[in-house]
Amino acid sequence: MADRILVAYATRYGSTAEVAEAIGDELRKSGVEVDVRPVDEVRDLSLYRAAVIGSPIYMGKWLPEPQVFIEKNQQYLRTIPVAYFAVGLTVAEGGGEILRKAEASMDPVRMLVNPVDVGVFPGKLVSGNLSFTDRTIIKLIRAKTGDFRDWESVCSWAGAVRSKIVPA
Ligand SMILES: Cc1cc2nc3c(=O)[nH]c(=O)nc-3n(C[C@H](O)[C@H](O)[C@H](O)COP(=O)(O)O)c2cc1C
Repeated sequence: MADRILVAYATRYGSTAEVAEAIGDELRKSGVEVDVRPVDEVRDLSLYRAAVIGSPIYMGKWLPEPQVFIEKNQQYLRTIPVAYFAVGLTVAEGGGEILRKAEASMDPVRMLVNPVDVGVFPGKLVSGNLSFTDRTIIKLIRAKTGDFRDWESVCSWAGAVRSKIVPA
């Protein structure tokens, strides 16, 4: 029976996984069972009455895994409430144009399944952890590093999503 909520995510360095866990904790406050899973580990989607799916932004785009997941499962996902979130470093700078660009990372998945809500959140970048390629790109674009995640905004968004997907 579809009585659980899925929070599915992709991550390269772990920061989006922690954002997904915080969203899961907030959704659990509705008393509903919530599974927080890397999108590659989701097996039986029919268990879920709603799904929150997120990705970090790399070069303006979501990672491929959640996009492939949504494409593959679009038929079922269209029958339940779905929300999307994106985690990116630029979001920390704020500003309309930056947020619009971060939101645009979700355009391809919005075209597949229309979400009840979308969220964009500042991420985390620690240069010591990065692969050689990622470190080179970060040096070239002179991106600032640090942990800019804003747990209050993540929880407040998840609370708003909860009220949309778990009617009181
Ligand atoms: C090579 C590279 C490209 C990135 N491109 C973007 C980008 O286009 N927009 C953005 O907001 N953040 C960008 N970021 C920052 C990541 O989205 C951010 O660090 C995020 O928290 C990483 O999530 P993860 O730890 O789950 O992989 C980039 C980071 C790297 C290393």
